[in-house]
Order: sequence, then C-alpha cells, then structure tokens
Amino acid sequence: MRRKIVAGNWKMNKTPSEAVALCNELKELVKSDSVDVVYCVPAIDIVPVVEAVKGTNVEVGAENMYFEDKGAYTGEISAEMLVDAGVKYVIIGHSERRDYFKEDDELLNKKVKKAFEAGLTPILCCGESLKQREMGVTMDFIRFQIKSDLDGVAADQVKDMVIAYEPIWAIGTGMTATTEQAEEVCKGIRDCIAEMYDEATAEAVRIQYGGSVNAGNAAELFAQPDIDGGLVGGASLKADFGKIVNY
Ligand code: 13P
Repeated sequence: MRRKIVAGNWKMNKTPSEAVALCNELKELVKSDSVDVVYCVPAIDIVPVVEAVKGTNVEVGAENMYFEDKGAYTGEISAEMLVDAGVKYVIIGHSERRDYFKEDDELLNKKVKKAFEAGLTPILCCGESLKQREMGVTMDFIRFQIKSDLDGVAADQVKDMVIAYEPIWAIGTGMTATTEQAEEVCKGIRDCIAEMYDEATAEAVRIQYGGSVNAGNAAELFAQPDIDGGLVGGASLKADFGKIVNY
C-alpha cells in the first residue's frame, strides 16, 4: 500500500518573510496522519521554512540542485548544502527547468544520481507538450524521459523516489488533464518501471499527478489506482492547499 504524497511547488514565489507567513497560515490546515506533505520552496526560503515547519508533519524540498559536489559553479546549490539545511526532497527536471533553462536528460540523470548519493529523495518530473499529445507520442516521449533520467539508478533507489507526471499543457493553465488521461499516463509510467526493473519496484514507486490540481479536482485524481498524490503549483500558495492535502 503506497502512502500518498502531496507536495507544493512554490516556484519563484514568496520572499523569505512571506514564506514563513505562509507556513504559519497553513500549519493547522495541512495536518494529516495519512498523507506525506512537502513544501518545495525557492532556495533562499529553505532555511527559514525548515525552521518554520519544525515540529509539524511538513517536510521541505528544494526546486532544483546541481550535481557537482562543490567548486566554481556560480549561482548553483549542491545536494550536500540542501541536506545540511534540513531538506529531504528535491524536484528534478521540472518542465520549466527543461524548457526555460535548457536542462536535458543527460544532466537530469546526473542530478538524480547525486540526489540519491546525498540521501535526498528526488521528485522526478516528466510530461508531454500539447503538440506531442496531439501527435500521439505522449507515452513514447515520457518513456524516453524516464529511461534516460533513471539510467544507472538501482531498483532500491527507485522504490524510494517520487515521479511526477505533469503534462506541460496542464501547468498553470487551469486546464487539468482528465482523470482518465492522468491515470492512463501514471499507469504507463508504472508499467515502464516494471519493464526496466521489476513488479515490486513498480508497485513501490510513488507517482504524482501535477497540472492545475485544486481543491475541487484533487479527490478524484488521487483516487485513481496509479496516482499517489499530487505536485501542486498555484494552489499550494493558499489555504486551499490544506483542502488538497485532506482531500
Ligand atoms: P499548477 O498547479 O500551477 O498548474 O503547477 C503545476 C506544477 O508545475 C507543479 O510542479
């Protein structure tokens, strides 16, 4: 039985003081014994947010990291820095990073491996564009992403990680994938993991849906057999996030 995991991706929102205020606003609303709750926050918010959620059920995640240990990589943050700051999860390969910052699968594979090495749980994102969906290559494209990004990653590591299926056309558009579309791809990802590894690994890995998740559609999406929670953008920045956690 997989435990649900609902993560907020704050993206480039909230200054450090606003971040602390949001944590305080959400504290009671996101209480849950049955769902893992994660806030993935901007790098500069990590330290105050870790402090603000101390003693609660919330874990903190980063939105990105670099794969090198240390050195001359101006502007980057290492896995070790995240761990030392109290971070448990890290989003890798969000479509905004793939698109705007030209992160490719070879780079993302290095990041995934480094995250595991450092003891972080990767939330690996995948998802097709509208054009790819219309061309009928959705599952081919996502299988390519998963296979490339997990190249050389061991089954025991995959069992502990999180994969987020985020159709690009559903992100920030209010255009949620239908429950059937979301379940179909999440099941396809699980089948891909079973082929690459084995049934036990496929049964263990948690697969989230992301893309315009809100308080109104979360319950139906999360009730699907292969959807183990959500990666939530816009709605994670308001009180509604509590409703999504307690769907
Ligand atoms: P929205 O929930 O704002 O559509 O964003 C989804 C997302 O990109 C989460 O990573």
